[in-house]
Amino acid sequence: MSVAKKEYKRVTVKSLVDMKRNGEKISMLTAYDYTMAKILDSSGVDVLLVGDSASNVMAGHETTLPITLDQMIYHASSVVRAIERCLVVVDLPFGSYQSDPKEALRSAIRIMKESGGHSIKLEGGREVKESIKRILNAGIPVMGHLGLTPQSIYKFGTYTVRAKEEEEADQLMEDALMLEKIGCFAVVLEKVPAKLAKKVAEAISIPVIGIGAGNGVDGQVLVTHDMLGMTHEFNPRFLRRYLNMYDEMSTAFESYIDDVKSGDFPSDKEQY
Ligand code: KIV
Repeated sequence: MSVAKKEYKRVTVKSLVDMKRNGEKISMLTAYDYTMAKILDSSGVDVLLVGDSASNVMAGHETTLPITLDQMIYHASSVVRAIERCLVVVDLPFGSYQSDPKEALRSAIRIMKESGGHSIKLEGGREVKESIKRILNAGIPVMGHLGLTPQSIYKFGTYTVRAKEEEEADQLMEDALMLEKIGCFAVVLEKVPAKLAKKVAEAISIPVIGIGAGNGVDGQVLVTHDMLGMTHEFNPRFLRRYLNMYDEMSTAFESYIDDVKSGDFPSDKEQY
């Protein structure tokens, strides 16, 4: 179903707040390289997230913890070179902002200067408040990330739904209100009950982008490789697959191998 929407020549942090105000849902997907970012940008996605999920998807790590600031800058600059329209948000990786606000600001400045990204995202609420304020004071737009925060996987031990209990849900609401108050332009809510996510989206004026957070929020984000079906071992309930690229690509690779082995490729027309 196609939805009437305002045309944004260039999506900015302000456009996202306008979209929320106008009731237009925000589309966000991850990108880590030039070619994919070019397709995503020309398809009209509003926001590209250079997520630290690159650690899993691109590098094959089990968690998001190993990816470095230099590696995030490499991915982000490849994405930025491809885009003409969408807003690029870059994750601050684990270890680049947790120790103190000065380090957080230094890391955010490196991302903005060296990759050309338009904003940063970092995980956490009250525990990173001072770091977020410092980054915002330098004029760098910040997207928050609450609920399931994969950089804290070893603290929680599982990737299950967060904030199911009242105490954690109340804390999450307080953190979301705090992120809005100090000046974040949006918040990602990952894997929390849909009812709570809707309540948060109604309580704050900045956009709430959900992943596994139901339909009552202001936008959705998925990992592109998951929604394309390039990954096939990861099957959470919230994931909708739009293609089965794992099988499609395997079929193409098998045909190529067969053609090479049989001598069918290259043909007379495919040589000089
Ligand atoms: O790194 C990432 O891809 C993310 C999304 C899952 C929101 O943070």
